[in-house]
Amino acid sequence: MDSKKLEGKIAIITGGASGIGEATSRLFAQHGAKIVIADIQEEKGRSVTESIGSSHCTFIKCDVTDEKQVQSLVQSTVEIHGKVNIMFSNAGIASTHEHEQDILGFNLDALDNLFAINVRGSVACVKHAAKAMVESGVKGNIICTASLTATMGITKQIDYAMSKHAVLGLVKCASKGLGKYGIRVNCVSPAAVATPLLEKSMKMSVEDLEKLFESFNCLKNGTLRASHVADAVLFLASDDSQFVTGHNLVVDGGFHPPV
Ligand SMILES: NC(=O)c1ccc[n+]([C@@H]2O[C@H](COP(=O)([O-])OP(=O)(O)OC[C@H]3O[C@@H](n4cnc5c(N)ncnc54)[C@H](O)[C@@H]3O)[C@@H](O)[C@H]2O)c1
Repeated sequence: MDSKKLEGKIAIITGGASGIGEATSRLFAQHGAKIVIADIQEEKGRSVTESIGSSHCTFIKCDVTDEKQVQSLVQSTVEIHGKVNIMFSNAGIASTHEHEQDILGFNLDALDNLFAINVRGSVACVKHAAKAMVESGVKGNIICTASLTATMGITKQIDYAMSKHAVLGLVKCASKGLGKYGIRVNCVSPAAVATPLLEKSMKMSVEDLEKLFESFNCLKNGTLRASHVADAVLFLASDDSQFVTGHNLVVDGGFHPPV
């Protein structure tokens, strides 16, 4: 590797046990950051942590829907490493397979559960990371995972699209409020990536998902993978994007489904 872009930085990555969070944890560690993976999947989280190496990575079990757990995650990170430079608030779920969530058949209990993770969880992560950064004078970076659906209407899984619109709103508002402390707040918006989240919600194999989504890309340059999203997160977390804040970085290969 030519240059390490995150040497000496401390990063919390929620949802780091799988998919986009796992790929980002590995990339951040390669770039010299110390990572705290926070996830509800303990076994997977510990195994990713072990494979990255205990000198660079720690696992803390945390359910982002519980503000106290998020506060304690941030406090523990500060106790272990002395500071937090980067919060990647990435934990999230898709609409459940049982509920299509079109407008006429909308299940409000499913919405409450999804919003608790995707929206409430994101707010808790941004709030507590920002507080720790402000208290210790760290000009940190906060990145959230939104989605292509943060800026478009869809006919099904609309609770998911609504939740990602809210994440984008959070990023735009928090970037305004935290700018005076030198804290940047941005988000990435991936198109479909064949992670366990999509495998579960669409009940399709990785191969079939990738074939399907590849056909929607204008850019004929392979398949969108979690590592491509991680590259975009690294850009937002590093000094390469020093004057970028309140930005929604779309990573979609010109995704254009025929609807
Ligand atoms: N895969 C896609 O196509 C896609 C596209 C756009 C946006 N996203 C977003 O990317 C993010 C990561 O998803 P992914 O595709 O890598 O899925 P994934 O299922 O592989 O990873 C999500 C991780 O979040 C964790 N998580 C779920 N609920 C949690 C909670 N309450 N507290 C802590 N951790 C929790 C899961 O255990 C899992 O490890 C999500 O916010 C998702 O909405 C995904």
